Amino acid sequence: MNVTILPDAAAIGRAAGDLICAAAQQNPAIVLGLATGASPLPCYARIIQRHQAGEVSFAGARSFNLDEYCGLPESDPNSYRSFMRKELFSQIDILPENTHFLDGNAPDEAAECARFTAAMQAAGGIDLQLLGIGRNGHIGFNEPGDAFTGEAYKTRLSESTIAANSVYFSQDDMPRYAMTMGVGSILRAREILLIATGEAKAEAVRSMIEGELSPACPATALQQHEHVTIFLDEAAASLLKKD
Ligand code: GLP
Repeated sequence: MNVTILPDAAAIGRAAGDLICAAAQQNPAIVLGLATGASPLPCYARIIQRHQAGEVSFAGARSFNLDEYCGLPESDPNSYRSFMRKELFSQIDILPENTHFLDGNAPDEAAECARFTAAMQAAGGIDLQLLGIGRNGHIGFNEPGDAFTGEAYKTRLSESTIAANSVYFSQDDMPRYAMTMGVGSILRAREILLIATGEAKAEAVRSMIEGELSPACPATALQQHEHVTIFLDEAAASLLKKD
């Protein structure tokens, strides 16, 4: 794992956005794996800025999003599809038909997960996967468990994740289930970029980098991948051993 500590979320956003833009310049047909949540927002802002400056195009790119809530209409502002449209896709030139999501409302969940996995494979696999990390070490919506997960599947969200994400929802309407790429799907990406900021992520970051490989912290699976870049701010890095 290649770990870089940067001063703040803005610096991480610039570095992460620049890394993605450089990859897209080098490979205009890039297949991106994309993430939601607060962490990627400065990164998406940087990509938009560089696209609008005429420096990078995503007209030939394809994307696959990590996860989606179950039981939310697509048009709900909290659906990850709405999030991506608002925060990135509507402001760059990626073609809507080239942006792929799990459909959290599909009646046959297993068939939907199989469809999504097959579409990723048909696209040639993910070249660059962007990730955040949950406070409990989840990646995508792969919650701590007894075994690492494989391909996309439907999962029940943990209390920790519900508490962290319920700030976006009114009252008690936060979904309890989601569909997510599995850890196996994530590890097949050729390159992974994980970003984390803030003290609330420090323990998960410590486990991911220095902890024992264990599904109790799903992000430790990234230790097995050969091309992982991690951008942290000082607070997220605060529990790492100093050398
Ligand atoms: C969410 C998403 C993850 C994200 C994580 C951290 O639940 N499913 O993909 O990485 O939680 O989110 P944030 O960046 O808002 O802390």
